[in-house]
Amino acid sequence: MKIAVFCSGNGSNFQAIADSVKAGDIKADISVMVCDNPKAFAIERAKKLGIETFVTSLKDHKSRQDFEKAILAELEVRKIELVVLAGFMKVLSADFIAKYKNRIINIHPALLPSFAGTDGIGDAIKYGVKATGVTVHFVDAGVDTGPIILQDAVEVRPDDTHDSLAERIHKIEHQLYPRVVKLFVEGRIKIEGRVVKIT
Ligand code: GAR
Repeated sequence: MKIAVFCSGNGSNFQAIADSVKAGDIKADISVMVCDNPKAFAIERAKKLGIETFVTSLKDHKSRQDFEKAILAELEVRKIELVVLAGFMKVLSADFIAKYKNRIINIHPALLPSFAGTDGIGDAIKYGVKATGVTVHFVDAGVDTGPIILQDAVEVRPDDTHDSLAERIHKIEHQLYPRVVKLFVEGRIKIEGRVVKIT
């Protein structure tokens, strides 16, 4: 199976998935890492991993539609079958998502449907929840609303800062995301309505 991983920043989840592919645990190819931020550290990681990159930012294009068209063309040429959003901070349009229906997955640093949006970690701390976590879900036309594939909980400690909680959340993410990609590649994820079953 040919996979595209989308990143905007650090790319530690991209690294974890690429490491699992290299180790032979996930039997798939990461054909390309798509990045909308030319300064992202994920690009350095891709170079070290020997994975091709497609870097294009929204401001390189006349419109969001053109930006997405350029990315779609890249995916089509490469015959991509699974899109893995790994810290990709642009919301994809309904048209884009329809083209890869049930073939785009995302990781979110909270237990959805709580704390959707751009700062799932900070919002959980501010709210005062005692447990938060990580969610991997299919992407639908809403923001962080698609069918949930797997979740794992993380305790919020009284003295947690954004950084200390983020560190524990990332550790969980780096285990959970490769696990989900492996399940998808092995055809073991079924969607019934909005409920996901692992077979
Ligand atoms: C991850 O914590 C991911 O859950 C989060 O961005 C981080 C990217 O880290 N995604 C979102 O907040 C999406 N709404 P990484 O670049 O090191 O993989």
